[in-house]
Amino acid sequence: MQFDIFTLFPEVFPPYLNSSILKRAQQNGYLGVELHNIREWTRDKHHVTDDTPYGGGGGMIMKPEPVFEAVEDVLGTPPACPIVLLTPQGRLFTQDVAQELARNDRLALLCGRYEGLDERIRTHLVTDEISIGDYVLTGGELPALILIDALTRLIPGVLGDENGAANDSHASGLLEGPHYTRPPEFRGWEIPAVLRSGDHARVAQWRREQALLRTFKRRPEMLEKIELSDEDRAFLETLDYRL
Ligand code: ADE
Repeated sequence: MQFDIFTLFPEVFPPYLNSSILKRAQQNGYLGVELHNIREWTRDKHHVTDDTPYGGGGGMIMKPEPVFEAVEDVLGTPPACPIVLLTPQGRLFTQDVAQELARNDRLALLCGRYEGLDERIRTHLVTDEISIGDYVLTGGELPALILIDALTRLIPGVLGDENGAANDSHASGLLEGPHYTRPPEFRGWEIPAVLRSGDHARVAQWRREQALLRTFKRRPEMLEKIELSDEDRAFLETLDYRL
């Protein structure tokens, strides 16, 4: 999958992109990221990318010309792929949205800065708007990295283990239950005996129940949205879950 990032702060991306799984995904040809500094598409002496708002008020607004020219130069007219604006006004980013966006083989990410951007960028260039949560950051750069991270781990082959992403919290509609590794006892705290039983069916059932239990305790509303088996329902009834 190919990402084209349009930003005024390209320098914040490489440290994260060049670490761990995203680094390996690029080395192995699953992921390509190109950074485009919007400032390079300014034409004035001072490379100005923002201006004061019409009608007054505080804050600075990103000018339309460099943004349009950057995107059109890189992606053509009309642009060859969806143009996603990262903004707190966008639709909320969830695992379902990640799966939907991961069906594209190319995405452009536009990182807003300042108080906002000229509305004509939204109406005539941007094709989708994404928010990573109901809080306001100083810009769309961290949200863009979050989106790339979540989408990259959905690309088949990136995680190595093909089941890796399928069992994640949220992918199944449930939170994952607890995990343990060696040692079997640490400071007197023992791991659940079933995990050492060697009985794969019992382990699988225990994992399912732990996922249901954790979801019931922390995010009960998630249980309304998934299909539950008869066994799941019987287990939840023991927790006094009202079906
Ligand atoms: N830019 C600033 N805040 C943001 C948010 N919550 N999501 C996406 N982009 C943003």
